[in-house]
Amino acid sequence: MDLSRRHFLEAGFGLGVAGSLGACVSPGSASGAAGMPDWHLGYQNAPPAGFDPSPMRLAFGAVPADLKGSFYRNGPAQMQYGDQYASHWFDGDGLIHRIAIEDGQAVHQARFVETKKRREEQAAGKFLSPGFGTLGDESYSVEGPDDVNAANTSVLVVNGELLALWEAGSAFAMDAETLETRGPKTWREDLKGMPFLAHPKVEPDGRVWNLAVGGDRVGIYRIAKTGELEDFGMVNIGRAAYIHDWTMTARHLIILVQPWINENLRPPVVAGFEWQPQHGLQMLIVDKDDFSNQRWAQAPARMFFHTGSAWEESDGTIKFDVVLYREPVLGVGGGAAEIRGEWTERSANEKGILTQIVIPVQGDAKLIETGIMGEFPQVDPRYRGQSRRLTALCTAPSRQRPGQTALTVHDWGSGQSDTFNFGESRMVEEFLFVPKSGSSKESESWLIGTVLNLKSEVSEVCVFDAARVSDGPVCILQADYSWPLGFHGTWA
Ligand SMILES: [Fe+2]
Repeated sequence: MDLSRRHFLEAGFGLGVAGSLGACVSPGSASGAAGMPDWHLGYQNAPPAGFDPSPMRLAFGAVPADLKGSFYRNGPAQMQYGDQYASHWFDGDGLIHRIAIEDGQAVHQARFVETKKRREEQAAGKFLSPGFGTLGDESYSVEGPDDVNAANTSVLVVNGELLALWEAGSAFAMDAETLETRGPKTWREDLKGMPFLAHPKVEPDGRVWNLAVGGDRVGIYRIAKTGELEDFGMVNIGRAAYIHDWTMTARHLIILVQPWINENLRPPVVAGFEWQPQHGLQMLIVDKDDFSNQRWAQAPARMFFHTGSAWEESDGTIKFDVVLYREPVLGVGGGAAEIRGEWTERSANEKGILTQIVIPVQGDAKLIETGIMGEFPQVDPRYRGQSRRLTALCTAPSRQRPGQTALTVHDWGSGQSDTFNFGESRMVEEFLFVPKSGSSKESESWLIGTVLNLKSEVSEVCVFDAARVSDGPVCILQADYSWPLGFHGTWA
């Protein structure tokens, strides 16, 4: 094994140091739904076999005639074994959903990614693998990142191949129709087991870029739209910062080095992070044609999970949207209380604010805060890396329960926002832009996303017109059942 690869494998989630027992929190009494608040529906286990294909019911409106394709989503769906709860939301096994839509009809199905972690924990009936917030059981053998891979964060389709993504290990290849697990994806033999971040960036022409994060080293994947790896390079970011997402213009990669640093990477990984605001939020700007051509930019200290997309003005100024936090409280807590059915309202410092970062050619970057509280920013896939106006995100965090209540489209050009608030009875998740058939303008898109209906106790898929969000959904498709809240999706 070459040294650079070993560095990455060892950096992945504190390997080979599975700690002592007591991996997870055991609650005093409650198990299952008994005595739990209604919103805890979003944190309950999915059935072990997932969900067989099942038609969804049109509960409102009409499905747009041109909306045809597969809406895939991923999220942690095993948060509990008996009276043992996962101690971080990032550590539940990934459940891959497919909502196939055609001729106004929708069919939902879902399958767990059959990782080693999933197989062994299902057989034992308890959590074993070390994770982001989980210590792990000393009986569990760990030889590489994929032994602890939860495959639970996002999905990517490249040239028809469906991949379940995590951030510290391989992507897992899945059958795009049956959702059967094929196994870890190897992009090139010498990169076997190399991490593949859960936030790849796809250019409008289909080329994919992604990062492999291992301590202070970051690998860069360039993948053709046909799925072949075209290039893999390496840059040094100086610090072992937490990197969940990043961004890209047509010409540059922008790697955000936030001052949330982990120098020891022992499980549970989250306990090793230190907030070091004196470093600020640094950004490494890398030329896509020559990875050695780099420059740094500096912004005030902030924590983040998700960016929208970046572009460059004619004078070289870089602009991008991102949801920024004053402190990494949310990342540290990891939803452990919510998983146990407990919740207290977050302080202002724990809420993400939609912000534009402006990086001039010279001098420090500026933050333009919108005041909009939310998460999961998304942009029109036709405008990735290019100048654009719109960002969609879920907004209006509830003051009565976890999660958001609204969908907002913010227009950076006019500074105006268009919002639809579902109210307290629906938990709102990520919405994706799906360009309308035959259109080219950014506003000519559908927005598709999932919502957990707490009153009816069912999961829903909602579609909006991106140009008229405050008019409400154009349709709501309801399952006969609910599934747990997830993270990210893709449309194919
Ligand atoms: Fe994410």
